[in-house]
Amino acid sequence: MIISAKRMDLLAALPVALGLPLLTEVYSAEQPATLASPQSFDGIGDTAARSAALFTEAGKVLTSPRCVNCHPAGDRPLQGEKGRLHQPPVARGADGFGAVPMRCATCHQDANFNAAGMPGHPHWHLAPREMAWQGKTLGEICAQIKDPARNGGRSLQQILTHMATDTLVGWAWAPGFGRESAPGSQQELGALIDAGMKTGAACPA
Ligand code: HEC
Ligand code: HEC
Repeated sequence: MIISAKRMDLLAALPVALGLPLLTEVYSAEQPATLASPQSFDGIGDTAARSAALFTEAGKVLTSPRCVNCHPAGDRPLQGEKGRLHQPPVARGADGFGAVPMRCATCHQDANFNAAGMPGHPHWHLAPREMAWQGKTLGEICAQIKDPARNGGRSLQQILTHMATDTLVGWAWAPGFGRESAPGSQQELGALIDAGMKTGAACPA
């Protein structure tokens, strides 16, 4: 069968017409970003400065698109490496799982669906507004994460457990085809947060 040039053009234009990103646009084959170990900060004598430096290193993960896309400032999730607004337009809804009839699970299944570049997880939903990280400095994110009034009533220990073991957080290191993984590993993030807390949980300026 001969596919006419015109038809090829139409096929190529489909993702654009549907508002979908072209995979070549989002996927880069760069080396995955790494995280420094907690021990590599031992040389910082001042404890508070060391604690803040540990959080700054962890911040490479927190400010990555894999986290920020789900912790947006507004009511609409973000997509891709540059954090553009979610296509199609969807809103967080009352519970973060989307407004009726565009519930997140209508499209986001229990696992990634790579053929469609579709991320998935059984609890796929948007972080509440008070947990927004988009557009904030690392110092502001740090202060907010420690504040039970804005972190879902969690203790520091519970924040550590969430970062180190929650599987929705863990999705960021297995985000599926066409997406860059968050830097390092979830275990390494946990080690940095743990070390930062043990040195006083200081926030970077
Ligand atoms: C009508 C289908 C549809 C619905 C409903 C939907 N999404 Fe999506 N979502 C997609 C598609 C398709 C993608 C992949 C496109 C991309 O990432 O470029 C995506 C990607 C995302 C991403 C990007 C992940 C990343 O880091 O790249 C986030 C975050 C997201 N959706 C959150 C949500 C949330 C939260 C809801 C519910 C409030 C939701 N989506 C509802 C279709 C949908
Ligand atoms: C699919 C969406 C999604 C992704 C991706 C995501 N989060 Fe979240 N995050 C949430 C939701 C929803 C909550 C609120 C859950 C709750 O309170 O029970 C949350 C809450 C949190 C909290 C609790 C406290 C606070 O102040 O925010 C932390 C810490 C957190 N996420 C870290 C991360 C990190 C680190 C990443 C990236 C490695 C990440 N999240 C990626 C949806 C997401």
